[in-house]
Amino acid sequence: MNGASELPAERSSTGVTTRPIAVVTGGSEGIGLAIAHLLAERGNDLLLVARRADALEQAAAAIRSENSVEVMALALDLTRSDSLELLDAELARLGRHPHILVNNAAIGHSGHFSEANPAQLDRLVALNVMAPGRLMRHVLPGMRARRGGGIINIASLGGYVPGPYQAAYYASKAYLISLSEALAAEVKADGVRVTVVAPGSVETRFHAKMAAERAFYRILLPTSSAASIARWAVRGFELGLRTVVPGFFNLVCAVALRLSPHVVLVPIMAWLLNPRRPADRGAEHHARDASAGDVDRVDR
Ligand SMILES: NC(=O)c1ccc[n+]([C@@H]2O[C@H](COP(=O)([O-])OP(=O)(O)OC[C@H]3O[C@@H](n4cnc5c(N)ncnc54)[C@H](OP(=O)(O)O)[C@@H]3O)[C@@H](O)[C@H]2O)c1
Repeated sequence: MNGASELPAERSSTGVTTRPIAVVTGGSEGIGLAIAHLLAERGNDLLLVARRADALEQAAAAIRSENSVEVMALALDLTRSDSLELLDAELARLGRHPHILVNNAAIGHSGHFSEANPAQLDRLVALNVMAPGRLMRHVLPGMRARRGGGIINIASLGGYVPGPYQAAYYASKAYLISLSEALAAEVKADGVRVTVVAPGSVETRFHAKMAAERAFYRILLPTSSAASIARWAVRGFELGLRTVVPGFFNLVCAVALRLSPHVVLVPIMAWLLNPRRPADRGAEHHARDASAGDVDRVDR
């Protein structure tokens, strides 16, 4: 797939000329930032989207320093009901249209579902389920009309199995995998690609943000670097793959998760995912669970 800088500008039906850009949600750190670096290396101008403006600016400056592409940053909470309008306004201001969309931003939740703060669960669904769905619905008509471009959705191996103690997060990734594979089939004939990526455990701040660092999966399962997941994601997208499971171990896990009966798998997942918070800190963690999002809450 061409870098966006190699593609011609587009004239819309209203006569406005726009240039292509890759939009990366959660592009300020972790896997999103690593994907942004790779897309920039391939000649794509970038719009990085996340909540914290300072982290975004740092990420954008780091990418600019290594690549001769334009990197813009938009501080935006994607759980906002007007996030599409705000994104569109920024794209219009920049004179751009999304040629590539990377749906990467997500939050987790660790602990008993029945003890979770309802607002935190709403935020998880708004970010992990509603935002990627709305963004895809928003950008796909333009991509289909231009007969090009595509979407990379970052899901998780967790999308292949129910995950007790991370129940809402695992369910959100199951939705994303199902939606992605279905949309990939719908838009293939229009020359548009949809690739869903299902990484296993990756070494980012994601786990600490949901206070899951003491869970056995963090100790027992191998982790990948964000850079390696990004390479799998971008290469898989370039090859037109609909599903990418990065690495041999994760591929074996994905097959096992798909073939094994849930009656066997779910208790194992419960053992791996239990956050194992110390009993004497139970009250503190109740408070943390009730605190609307652990450290993932950024109020504006
Ligand atoms: N880490 C893993 O082990 C792992 C494994 C499998 C799949 N994944 C998936 O990979 C993706 C990236 O994970 P990661 O580990 O790189 O996470 P991360 O390091 O925690 O980064 C999350 C990114 O999302 C942004 N974000 C969070 N809430 C947002 C909101 N409401 N609106 C806009 N942006 C928001 C964050 O920036 P701000 O906080 O500034 O908004 C940050 O840029 C996620 O979809 C995750 O589910 C991760």
